[in-house]
Amino acid sequence: MLLKIGRNDPCWCGSGRKYKACHQAFDDKLDMIKRSHHKIPTHAMIKTPEQVEKIKESAKINIAVLDYLEKNVHEGMRLSEIDKIVYDMTTDMGGIPAPLNYEGFPYSVCTSINDQVCHGFPREETILESGDIINVDCSTILNGYFSDSSRMFMIGDVHPEWERLVKVAKECCDKGLEAVKPWGFLGDIGQAVNDHAKANGFSVVRDIGGHGVGLEFHEDPFVSYVTTQGTGCCMAPGMMFTIEPMVNMGEADCFVDEENNWEVYTDDGSPSAQWEYQVLVTEDGYELISW
Ligand code: MF3
Ligand code: CO
Repeated sequence: MLLKIGRNDPCWCGSGRKYKACHQAFDDKLDMIKRSHHKIPTHAMIKTPEQVEKIKESAKINIAVLDYLEKNVHEGMRLSEIDKIVYDMTTDMGGIPAPLNYEGFPYSVCTSINDQVCHGFPREETILESGDIINVDCSTILNGYFSDSSRMFMIGDVHPEWERLVKVAKECCDKGLEAVKPWGFLGDIGQAVNDHAKANGFSVVRDIGGHGVGLEFHEDPFVSYVTTQGTGCCMAPGMMFTIEPMVNMGEADCFVDEENNWEVYTDDGSPSAQWEYQVLVTEDGYELISW
């Protein structure tokens, strides 16, 4: 049973305004979309302007950490140094690295090299070598609000084809971002991402995707990048989620390391690249929150 809010009752969003002057038109619009057999977001997926401000404060730390790493990650560096930089910078700025102890994750950051797809461990014994491509995936909690984004770094002389993979993976994120429009569908993003990867001879990982983010590390909805335009959950202003396709040079299939149940690798040993944006759906498009 759906509880109908009276026109003059306070809005569900907590603005303190009357429902009719706040989200009633919004709900009516979603109701219409639902009646044409589309999935629609729940109210819990809609961030208030106050929440967005708090999440942006968290994102400032996340962006600063990645900006610093962009300038300082280098050949010969141990991955544990990256882990320490993330921990130190995040905590110095008053935040908490979200991965640390998250469902038992033993580090402050994920570092995924070459054929590692995601959730790689920044181990002491792994030293960056010329030719490596590495994804550094940072997530921050500040005052209970979450930010999450990742970037690729290329170490020394990278094979041109691997460099192209990194470039195309970034372009996939940008194409996905351009597909973010209020009252569009999550499948619009999936189609844009997958089309671009395929056109370049690469494949997109199917089993792992993006997610809602902000009040929790991982919220609904699940965001796939192998979906079709016009399908999936409707995008409404106030929704926040990640665009983080994993793009493989070879086949899309992956496996999880059974030793730790975290680190994911490509089945065929081909390299994989990933960038991650945290995005807010706005009244007229999108706002990039973290990158
Ligand atoms: N930042 C990763 C993501 O994009 C989080 C992985 S879970 C962790 O969702 F525990 F490994 F951090
Ligand atoms: Co994420």
